[in-house]
Amino acid sequence: LVRPPHGSDLGGRRVVVSAGGTREPLDPVRFLGNRSSGRQGVALARSAAERGAAVTLVAANVAPDVLAGVGSGVEVVHVETGEELRASVRAAALEADVVVMAAAVADYRPASVAPTKIKKSGEVPTIELVETTDVLRELVADPPRPGQLVVGFAAETGDTTGSVLDHARTKARRKGADLLVVNPVGDGRGFGTTTNEITVLDRTGDVVATAAGTKAEVAHAVWDAVVAVADGRPS
Ligand code: CTP
Ligand code: CA
Repeated sequence: LVRPPHGSDLGGRRVVVSAGGTREPLDPVRFLGNRSSGRQGVALARSAAERGAAVTLVAANVAPDVLAGVGSGVEVVHVETGEELRASVRAAALEADVVVMAAAVADYRPASVAPTKIKKSGEVPTIELVETTDVLRELVADPPRPGQLVVGFAAETGDTTGSVLDHARTKARRKGADLLVVNPVGDGRGFGTTTNEITVLDRTGDVVATAAGTKAEVAHAVWDAVVAVADGRPS
């Protein structure tokens, strides 16, 4: 028997992982969504359970075949919208030592939801949006359980104003999470793929780890970083 190097280093810990992408309804049949498959979040939940944690996975619109990869021993809560995700994550986080926000949460939602299907009319409609609550920032500012560790994810592209790492550093400082896991997207990387590459930053924007490989390998690297931070902190 070959033991994994991490053993049960999350034994006795309770973790919450959010995964997938939220859907914000426009009417009974339409929504604004995103391309997050939930694969990385499912891999995080599975690997945490393998390392001994009690795991709650808050799954936003994760396809059944992807969700099947979570294995046994993980409690799954299904949500659709950002507001549902917020409520379920905060409820589960009341008992959690670690909260990992791997879900892609909508930044904006339609200002109103039509109760019946929006019909084609002579005019092209304009959709008014309102900002959603930033669940991660709220977890940092108002933790459901004091002292719990909060981990954010950020899919970034470089652009004319800065590199992936430039944007990631700014976001790490702005979000204030204990760790921010950054992955470059675009050029076939990230969303919808089975492999991933990540850089883990602390709240000051310093790089504390990097990893590349399958989403399972990347998930273990994230938990390694979490364990390192948790071990350096009185509980
Ligand atoms: N997040 C959240 N609630 C939101 C939006 C984002 O909890 N309403 C979380 C995500 O789950 C992720 C982290 O914030 O862990 C970073 O998300 P990201 O979209 O990269 O950050 P934003 O601050 O929304 O910045 P932008 O979309 O402009 O890059
Ligand atoms: Ca966003």
